[in-house]
Amino acid sequence: MQHRVQVAIIGAGPSGLLLGALLDQAGIDHVLIERQSPEYVASRIRAGVLEQGTVDVLDQLGLSGRLHREGLVHHGFNLLFQGQRHRIDLHELTQGKQVVVYGQTEVTKDLMQHREAKGLRSFYQVDALQIRGLDTQTVEIEGMHRGQPLRIQSDIVAGCDGFHGICRKLIPNNLLKEYEKVYPFGWLGVLADVKPVAEELIYVNSPEGFALCSMRSPSRSRYYVQVPVDDDIASWSDERFWSVLRSRLDTEAADQLVTGPSIEKSIAPLRSFVAEPMRWGRLLLAGDAAHIVPPTGAKGLNLAVSDVRFLAEALSDWFSDRNDQHLERYSSRCLQRVWRAERFSWWFTSLMHRFPDQGDFGQKIQEAELDYLVHSQAASASLAENYVGLPMTWL
Ligand code: APR
Ligand code: PHB
Repeated sequence: MQHRVQVAIIGAGPSGLLLGALLDQAGIDHVLIERQSPEYVASRIRAGVLEQGTVDVLDQLGLSGRLHREGLVHHGFNLLFQGQRHRIDLHELTQGKQVVVYGQTEVTKDLMQHREAKGLRSFYQVDALQIRGLDTQTVEIEGMHRGQPLRIQSDIVAGCDGFHGICRKLIPNNLLKEYEKVYPFGWLGVLADVKPVAEELIYVNSPEGFALCSMRSPSRSRYYVQVPVDDDIASWSDERFWSVLRSRLDTEAADQLVTGPSIEKSIAPLRSFVAEPMRWGRLLLAGDAAHIVPPTGAKGLNLAVSDVRFLAEALSDWFSDRNDQHLERYSSRCLQRVWRAERFSWWFTSLMHRFPDQGDFGQKIQEAELDYLVHSQAASASLAENYVGLPMTWL
């Protein structure tokens, strides 16, 4: 089948799905092309802290009904080090801002349902995707959709196909610069239908390594512990996980911890990555296709949202008056916010984890910085300002 559209979106993660909803609202004709099945996309377990700016975008699309019913508004979170818990009061430190704990899986489902209800064209299970003519007026996209040839012509390609996607690799090597830092550990995450250990998140620095107590609902917990990145998941029984998590908590939390069978258990590597520029000819990258942050600052999804917001704005300007200037500014506009989030995520990761070469001195320095952070209004305010999210406008 042959289709002609204004925008072809590659990838149905949060970036691609949200961009689709924004383009539809702007009256821009588009299709969504995804390699996996809808069931696979809707079942991926990911992070779950939404900045106010992210909630605002979903509000403005009329897509936040369930989010407001089921999401948990958090006015603060805790830092735990040297066995003591200290609260960071986000609300007070940022003059009334907050975050909402609502799983990325749920955001994805809401966006997929919206697409279906509006009858927006999506092609799932597309293999062997090939994209040509990005430096011409008409881009040609070909692939196999559930065994049948698929041909699409578009003005623009939105590369929302994640870190392992093909779009970024279409930018000529001599024009693309990649910046990367790989961390020598991973996060072992467990989802379980047990009451969360506390009402707010707890980020833990312990000499044995980082831990995080998060949640999805009042009866579903999400926990993480730092592990060596090459650890075999098979060596992590539920019992071992709960025992390691408990050993990194304070006495009160350790006593309150309710354990149960894991619904999901996996090890994720930690990486910082940025590709520049985010535009080449008719190709525009957004989300994980262009950048990755380690999850410590909970910025991955929120950065994807600011990218696609900027992108939808640039595209609606471009399609209305064909002025290239709006698209020209897309990459630098995104990258300014991206690098600030990269800096924050790297800093918070470095502060909270046990590094192989840090030794006792490094541990003491982390504890001194944490002590300063929780006792200095200026330092706490800086942490809070970044955690709730920098503005989604020009900084
Ligand atoms: N053809 C079509 N689709 C592809 C291809 C391809 N060749 N390669 C990858 N994809 C799809 C993937 O299957 C996936 O569904 O692109 C999608 C990319 O989704 P994500 O990896 O979720 O990336 P993004 O939408 O940018 O999400 C950003 O989600 O992954 C988290 O940490 C990330 O929170 C951040 C947010
Ligand atoms: C999560 O709930 O999965 C989560 C929360 C905060 C983070 C990372 C992940 O920083």
